Amino acid sequence: MEGPQIITRIFLLLLLFMLPLGPAWHAAAQRCPQTCVCDNSRRHVICRHQNLTEVPNNIPELTQRLDLQGNMLKVIPPAAFQDLPHLTHLNLQHCQVELVAEGAFRGLGRLLLLNLAANRLSTLPQEALDGLRSLRRLELERNTLEELRPGTFGALGSLATLNLAHNALVYLPAMAFQGLLRTRWLQLSHNALSVLAPEALAGLPALRRLSLQHNELQALPGAALSQARSLARLELGHNPLTYTGEEDGLTLAGLRELALDHGALQALGPRAFAHCPRLHTLDLRGNQLSTLPPLQGPGQLRRLRLQGNPLWCACHARPLLEWLVRARVRSDGACRGPRRLRGEALDALRPSDLRCPGDPAGDEDEELPPGPRAPPRRPEHEETTGGTPCPPTCVCGGETRHSACDGRGLQAVPRAFPNDTVLLDLRRNHFPSVPRAAFPGLRHLVSLHLQHCGIAELEPGALAGLDSLVYLYLSDNQLSGLSAAALEGAPQLGYLYLEHNRFLRVPGPALRALPSLFSLHLQDNAVDRLAPGDLSGARALRCLYLSGNHISQVSPGALGAARELEKLYLDRNQLREVPTSALEGLPALKELQLSGNPLRALQDGAFQPVGRSLQQLFLNNSGLEQISPGAFSGLGTGLRNLHLQKNQLQSLPAPLWLSGLELLDLSGNPFHCGCQLLPLHRWLTGLNLRVGATCATPPSVRGQKVKVATAIFEACPGWTAGKAKRTPTSRVSAGRSTTHRRHGGTDKVGP
Ligand SMILES: *[C@@H]1O[C@H](CO)[C@@H](O)[C@H](O)[C@H]1NC(C)=O
Ligand SMILES: *[C@@H]1O[C@H](CO)[C@@H](O)[C@H](O)[C@H]1NC(C)=O
Ligand SMILES: *[C@@H]1O[C@H](CO)[C@@H](O)[C@H](O)[C@H]1NC(C)=O
Repeated sequence: MEGPQIITRIFLLLLLFMLPLGPAWHAAAQRCPQTCVCDNSRRHVICRHQNLTEVPNNIPELTQRLDLQGNMLKVIPPAAFQDLPHLTHLNLQHCQVELVAEGAFRGLGRLLLLNLAANRLSTLPQEALDGLRSLRRLELERNTLEELRPGTFGALGSLATLNLAHNALVYLPAMAFQGLLRTRWLQLSHNALSVLAPEALAGLPALRRLSLQHNELQALPGAALSQARSLARLELGHNPLTYTGEEDGLTLAGLRELALDHGALQALGPRAFAHCPRLHTLDLRGNQLSTLPPLQGPGQLRRLRLQGNPLWCACHARPLLEWLVRARVRSDGACRGPRRLRGEALDALRPSDLRCPGDPAGDEDEELPPGPRAPPRRPEHEETTGGTPCPPTCVCGGETRHSACDGRGLQAVPRAFPNDTVLLDLRRNHFPSVPRAAFPGLRHLVSLHLQHCGIAELEPGALAGLDSLVYLYLSDNQLSGLSAAALEGAPQLGYLYLEHNRFLRVPGPALRALPSLFSLHLQDNAVDRLAPGDLSGARALRCLYLSGNHISQVSPGALGAARELEKLYLDRNQLREVPTSALEGLPALKELQLSGNPLRALQDGAFQPVGRSLQQLFLNNSGLEQISPGAFSGLGTGLRNLHLQKNQLQSLPAPLWLSGLELLDLSGNPFHCGCQLLPLHRWLTGLNLRVGATCATPPSVRGQKVKVATAIFEACPGWTAGKAKRTPTSRVSAGRSTTHRRHGGTDKVGP
């Protein structure tokens, strides 16, 4: 709709609306704070991004929806909205709010949705949320809440959804959610929770879904979780859990879906879910399981997700396979080994395919599984009590097999941890140098945390004897290099975290000791180039993160040894061109991050070497002024996401012959909407995507979407009436057409 038309419509609606209501509403309709837009027909007041420091005081009393996002309120004082008793929706996100006073929302007995996301709240006074008796949804995500006091939510008896994701919670006290009698979904993901009090989830009788992914849980808090008796769905992915078994005590009679994906699970007890009889879907993707026992108890299990585990398909896995068939459980894992079965779907094998060296079946394959144990040793209830050692000032957990001395001001790496420790946390101490064989006797150690320890040197052999180590965290230290023997002794190491150090080069020689290295994090160092040999040992590498360095040069062959590389992050560096020849020999590359480099232009065939595999390409914020017509040649239907936002593009060759795009971001470019852009306009009109391309010039269409700036394009030679008829509908419906998947459906290259 054009501007004047909208105004006329609103005006007419207003007239209609005011007539039957008489003078009261008429008077109210007169009021509208200067900085706001009042749509009185819908009782909707919008005062976004106005730098307001307090709630405007002449908002119409009958307002139902008030949108104040993007202001600078800082404090919500007591009874701040008492003159607006009809409010149902209140949006206060991005308002720099640091304090919500007690009784701030008093009088809002009809409020249904309160959005306080993306503020600066680190705490909530106990009575801050009083009076919100009808509230159905409370958004508190992206604040800095560190603790919750019991009783904070006591007045929210109607609340259905509580979102506390992306805060800084480390602990949930008992009765933290008391009073939430109708809450069905509690969102706690992306916090730093490591401990839940046993009664933390008491008082949530209606809870169906609990999201705890991306926290710091090192053991399953079974007792606490079992308090949420009506849970149907429990999300615990991306937590550093290494083991779970019956002793964790998870008892949830109605649980249907359980996600434990992307953790550090090494083993699973056969009765881990014995008390979850209705479990239907179990997600264990991306763990370190080389096998698992037949699970006893969850008789309704139908789906077991195992992708991304190093499954070892030898004779020990026979009981697993037999159980999957017998119990009719569908599973999607694939074998990591032995070589003969590598890549085979577990589901497709018969028990007789699973053999061990020395079997009567006569198999010459003598490889051993990569994991620390084959099959993984189940933590028995061994005598971890009694005489187990533990260094002074440290805490060594018996059954969880975690030992911790984080932040104790230690000046040297302590010794004599229990020899079955799987996780050792030494963060935030001070060890300028880690000596040779610093962790004796820890051959079961899987995860070692040494972040923020002022480490400047790892002596040769420092990791000697760490046969099972998979995760090594050395981020936020003072390392500027690693000698060739620094990482010897940890042959299973898969994940190496070196971000926020002082590396000037990729420590190539040291990486040769790591044949299993899967993911290497070197973000925010001072690496200035990549040269041949830097990755020559890293043959198993899948993910390489080099964001935020000073890289201006990637030599041909620098990445060539890492043939399985899937993700390459080179964003926020100093590259002046796409390192095309260095991409040769990376047949599996799926994601390439080049944003935030001073690229300026894209040459023809820039991505040709990875054209068949690439799915996501980031070129945003790269000063691009020009893209040559053949820049994306070789990229066919596989490319799904293309980020070109925040560049200096005035034009773009079109169509791009990328028919598989699901996301194309062209926002923040100064497009010049003249006839030369007609092909792009046409292509975008047929593309069923929101791309955000906006005209910057000529002034007559400044700010209009390229898709809808029809006035300009109608005057161009080559404009056809047929298209002209269809365009106005598509701009209203945001384009329902599905034709975009058809053109360029072949791997045709360039126009
Ligand atoms: C808000 O303040 C910023 C910074 O002072 C200023 O750039 C912006 O124009 C202001 N916005 C409004 C709507 O006054
Ligand atoms: C751990 O140490 C104890 C002695 O403290 C020893 O008896 C036991 O065999 C060791 N276990 C392993 C797995 O090395
Ligand atoms: C590029 O865009 C992605 C996705 O929006 C974003 O996460 C990333 O930070 C951007 N990079 C730069 C350097 O702006």
